[in-house]
This record gives sequence, structure tokens and C-alpha cells, in this order.
Amino acid sequence: MEYISLGATAQQIPKIGFGTWQYRGGAGVLKRAAELGAGFVDTAEAYGTEPIVGREIAGFRDDMFVATKVSASNLRYDDVIEHAEASLRRLQVSVIDLYQVHWPNPDIPIAETMRAMETLVAEGKVRFIGVSNFSPDQMKETQDSLKANPLAANQVRYSLFAREIEDDVLPYCQENDITVIAYTPIARGDFDSPGGGLREIAAEIGATPAQVMLSWVISHEGVMAIPKTDSVERVDEAVESVDIKLSADLKERLL
Ligand SMILES: NC(=O)c1ccc[n+]([C@@H]2O[C@H](COP(=O)([O-])OP(=O)(O)OC[C@H]3O[C@@H](n4cnc5c(N)ncnc54)[C@H](OP(=O)(O)O)[C@@H]3O)[C@@H](O)[C@H]2O)c1
Repeated sequence: MEYISLGATAQQIPKIGFGTWQYRGGAGVLKRAAELGAGFVDTAEAYGTEPIVGREIAGFRDDMFVATKVSASNLRYDDVIEHAEASLRRLQVSVIDLYQVHWPNPDIPIAETMRAMETLVAEGKVRFIGVSNFSPDQMKETQDSLKANPLAANQVRYSLFAREIEDDVLPYCQENDITVIAYTPIARGDFDSPGGGLREIAAEIGATPAQVMLSWVISHEGVMAIPKTDSVERVDEAVESVDIKLSADLKERLL
């Protein structure tokens, strides 16, 4: 596995972690991820998967970096505190490694939300603060609201077939030392892009389409990816993508 720093913090995180939206669990996926050095799990109060994640990682919690999210409807100060505590209970952990605002909410000042986030950090219930689906302006406002902590990450959709963040979100994150956590990095397993070519290129280099997609995403500076899978074999497949280095020529052909 390869690692990057989480934003401007000293925390190392793997370039491949695992998402849990619609995760069923039970197959040993997270255990295998930890064994391979990819002990990073992403969940959210909205997914309903925090209890499964909590049960599965109970025996090896120290080998996992646990990221979860507070929903956009719960961003008032008291709500953030209350919902973080509920997530801690469901996850059966004493601290959330990365607590993320799931979506921006224009009706609640981000400064109020960040005040709660910093209280959680000061109380030792959260280690790092993140956001998700935030624009550069929203990230700037978030950074300006934070007093004692950096904005560590922005979780956004990014794949070979969804490159919108390249316009402004990705450059902003790279310039400001904010890690991009790429969600839906393998386009939910739909490998037939409008441009085509992915399957052919994957076959040419002896890789799978998912591996080419993951390798492409994490080849960008400051970006890690969180594919979701229920299958242990696919954990190995995803982790092996770190060893695939796409040449400039291949990258050109993929676009
Ligand atoms: N912050 C947000 O707003 C937001 C939004 C969406 C997602 N997310 C996060 O990002 C994670 C990943 O995104 P996602 O679940 O939307 O999509 P994804 O990871 O791109 O795709 C997951 C789908 O691809 C399949 N798959 C996994 N590995 C594969 C492989 N090697 N070959 C073929 N198919 C494969 C999975 O099926 P199997 O399970 O059967 O393997 C699953 O159906 C989520 O779980 C969630 O944690 C965050």
C-alpha cells in the first residue's frame, strides 16, 4: 500500500480505503483491507451502516482509520454534538478519526457547525475535520471558521467518467493541502464509458477495468479513493491497483 498525509496533518492514510454505502458486510471485507494496509473505512449516519462497520472492526479498531459523516439536516451546534455521540455509539469506538459534513446546508452557518466540530476535537471525540461535496467557496468559508484545526479533507465524486472537480475543486484542494477523498471512483462498476476503451486498455496491461480506474484516480496528487465492495476478492483487486502505474500515453488514451 502507498500512503499520503491527510491534508496538512501528520496522519498517514492509505491511497485506497473502502466505502460502505449499501455495504452488507459479513464477508470479512474490512478485515482483509486492514491486513493489506488499507485500513480506512468511510461510512455516514445516513447510510445505516455504522453498526455493521462497528461490529466488524471491533477486533482490530487500531488498524482502522474510521471516517463518518453528519447529515446536512443536523448541522446546528447541539445537533452536531448529539449526532457525533450517536455515531460513536453505533460504531462502538471512543473517537471518530475523520468527521465529515456530508453536504453543505445553506440555511445553517458553517461557522456554527465548525464550532461544534472543534468542540468535538477538544473533547477527544473526533480527531480530524472534513467536509463532503463542498465547492471552493464553501471550503474557504469553512477554513476561515476553524480556529485550531485544519480542514483536512473534502470527499467528492471523482472518476475517469466524472471529472467535474478538475475545474476548481481539485486545484483548490491541492493548493490548500486538503485531501480529496474520491467517491464512486469506479462508477459503480459501469465500465462502459461513452468514450469506450477502458476494457481494451485494461486487457492490454493485464489489469481489470476497476484497477485502471482506481490507478487513474489515485495518480492525482493529494487524492485517495474509497471504492465500495462486499467481496473480499475485490478488496485485493482494489489494493493491487496501487502497483499499476499508467503511462502518460495510456492516460491520454483513457480520456
Ligand atoms: N459523500 C458522498 O456524498 C458520497 C456519495 C456516494 C458515495 N460515497 C462513498 O463512496 C463509496 C464508494 O462509492 P459508490 O459506492 O457510490 O460507488 P463505487 O465504489 O464506484 O462502486 C461500488 C459498486 O461497484 C461494485 N464493484 C466493486 N468493486 C468492483 C470490481 N472490482 N469490479 C466490478 N465492480 C465492482 C460494487 O459491487 P460489490 O459490492 O458487489 O463488489 C458496487 O456495486 C460509498 O460506499 C460511500 O462510502 C460518498
